[in-house]
Amino acid sequence: MTVHKIIELGVNVDHVATLRQARGVNYPDPMQAAEVARKAGADGITVHLREDRRHIQDHDVFSIKGNVNLPMNLEMAATQEMLKIAKTVIPYECCLVPESREELTTEGGLNVAGNADFLSDYISSLQESGIKVSLFIDPDKEQIEASKRLGADIIELHTGAYADCGEEQREFELNRIRLAAKMAFDAGLQVNAGHGLHYQNVAKIAAIEELTCLNIGHSIVARAAMTGFYEAVFAMKQLMNGARLESEGVGT
Ligand code: PXP
Repeated sequence: MTVHKIIELGVNVDHVATLRQARGVNYPDPMQAAEVARKAGADGITVHLREDRRHIQDHDVFSIKGNVNLPMNLEMAATQEMLKIAKTVIPYECCLVPESREELTTEGGLNVAGNADFLSDYISSLQESGIKVSLFIDPDKEQIEASKRLGADIIELHTGAYADCGEEQREFELNRIRLAAKMAFDAGLQVNAGHGLHYQNVAKIAAIEELTCLNIGHSIVARAAMTGFYEAVFAMKQLMNGARLESEGVGT
C-alpha cells in the first residue's frame, strides 16, 4: 500500500476579486469563495493585497479574516502601509513578496540576501504582533540561508520557473525545488511552495516530502469558471422561464 503524505492547500482567492473588479460591481465575493474553499477542504486562505489594489481590496481582507474559519496568509510587499494593515488584521501569517506595478503577477522571488537589514526589522515587527512571517523566494541557497539568518518562520519557494519552463528544462527546475526544500527543512524552516501550479503540474511538487503547504490560486479559479459554466447557463435559462433561483448571493 502506498502511504500518501498529507500536504496542505492554501487557496488564493485573488482572481475571484479580479472578476469583480473588472466590472466594478460587488460580486463575485472572494469571502464567499473562501468559505466554499473551506467546505471543500482547503487548509488556509491566501490573499495578496497589492499596493495598486488591482484585485483584493482592504475590506476583503477584513471580511475573510472575520468570517472564514481558516488561517489567513496575507501576501504583501514589505512597505510601511502594509505593515500597518497587517498589524490591524493580524493574519496567521504574512508572506512578503516583491511587487512592481507593471507585472501581471509576482514575477520573481524576494531578494532577502540583498535587503537583510531592512527585512530583519520588518520581520521582527510582524512577529512582535504574533504574526508568522513567510518569505517568497527563489529556490536558491543564498536566499534560504539569508531567510534563516533573518529569523523567518516560513519560506515559500517560487515554483514559477518550474511551471513556465519547457519540457526539456522541467526536471532541472523540479530538482532545484527538491534540493531547496530539503536544505530549508533541514535548517528548521517550514517550507511552502506556490505560483503557477495547476492540475497538470502539481503532482510532482506535492510529492516533495519537505513541503508543508502549496498556495494555489489562478488555476483553481480558472477551473471553477469552466466546471461551473454549465450550471450557470442552465440556471439563467431556468430563471428566464419563471423558475426561482436558490441563490447564495448577488450575482451568483
Ligand atoms: N504564492 C505567492 C507568493 C504568490 O504571489 C501567488 C500569486 O499571487 C501564488 C502563490 C499563487 O499563484 P497562482 O495564482 O499562480 O496559483
